[in-house]
Amino acid sequence: MSDTDLEDLPGVGSKTAEKLRDAGYDGLMSIATMSAADLSEVADLGNKTANKIIQAAREELDLGFQKGSDKMAERENMSKITLSSTKFDDLLDGGVETQSITEFYGEFGSAKTQCALQLAVNAQLPEEEGGLDQGVIFIDTEDTFIPERVEQMAEAKNMDPDDVLDNIFVARAYNSDHQILLGDKAQDIMKDNDIGLIVVDSLTSQFRSDYVGRGQLADRQQKLNEHMHTLQRLANTHNAAVVVTNQVMSNPGQLFGDPTSAIGGHIVGHASAFRIYLRKSKKNKRIARLVDCPYLPEGEAVFQVTENGIEDA
Ligand code: GTP
Ligand code: MG
Repeated sequence: MSDTDLEDLPGVGSKTAEKLRDAGYDGLMSIATMSAADLSEVADLGNKTANKIIQAAREELDLGFQKGSDKMAERENMSKITLSSTKFDDLLDGGVETQSITEFYGEFGSAKTQCALQLAVNAQLPEEEGGLDQGVIFIDTEDTFIPERVEQMAEAKNMDPDDVLDNIFVARAYNSDHQILLGDKAQDIMKDNDIGLIVVDSLTSQFRSDYVGRGQLADRQQKLNEHMHTLQRLANTHNAAVVVTNQVMSNPGQLFGDPTSAIGGHIVGHASAFRIYLRKSKKNKRIARLVDCPYLPEGEAVFQVTENGIEDA
């Protein structure tokens, strides 16, 4: 990647560069992947200027068409994180992928958080054991990041629980704007630390409570969309996995329609390459179903949640 500073882009003065940096956009890649509308808002610029800056950043980075072979090379960098269940891993052809967003959705108690915590532990495993040997960012919106539970899962894998906790950057998001900000901040952490997984548990709960009522639906979707784009950008630039959870309401009401369609609707759905629908089965058993994957067959896997974490049933 080139060493060009933001100030080297045509139309970007020191003031604009400062505004951009304040908003968390401090590299060419983050500019190149912005929309003109976002850039003009963030940096207080006209749309035309914003467009020019984005084009320049893209040219500088040589973005645009890519050869199939380059695309293949990118895919070859892709790695996977095990879910500690062979059935579950098989369903996903090895586990949760880097460079993509994977969404776990299901009703309360369906084990979305358990999957998220397990992945936060497993991402730190050595590669030959199904991990990435990398750290984790965990954006917690419901105060469900329980360190003791992480310790339990780590011990079950003979990992040092203190090390495991040390390698997870946890932030509690108090509202949806705060959550978006944390998504932007993740970029800073990833610059200085070797991060292979970003978790957002839950992706949608704060948005749901901040944007109530039909009139705010469009606003909510737009914000959610931006947030997802930020996450996807981080996944691509850092070869990281992104895992988000999304609660399906057991009593759908009128607002969101179909109970098996997750909150956030098609915007979250389209942005997620992998969507996994979780549902409860007998006792501690859970069923995972892979939905709408572009290149893996649909299917289901049964796993269980024990004191060790996720396991084969
Ligand atoms: P919401 O966030 O409420 O939507 O639910 P969720 O889908 O995140 O559910 P979560 O992952 O919190 O799953 C909760 C379930 O996991 C519990 O009902 C338990 O069955 C199981 N579980 C959680 N912790 C433990 C544990 O320490 N031991 C065992 N055996 N099971 C656990
Ligand atoms: Mg949860």
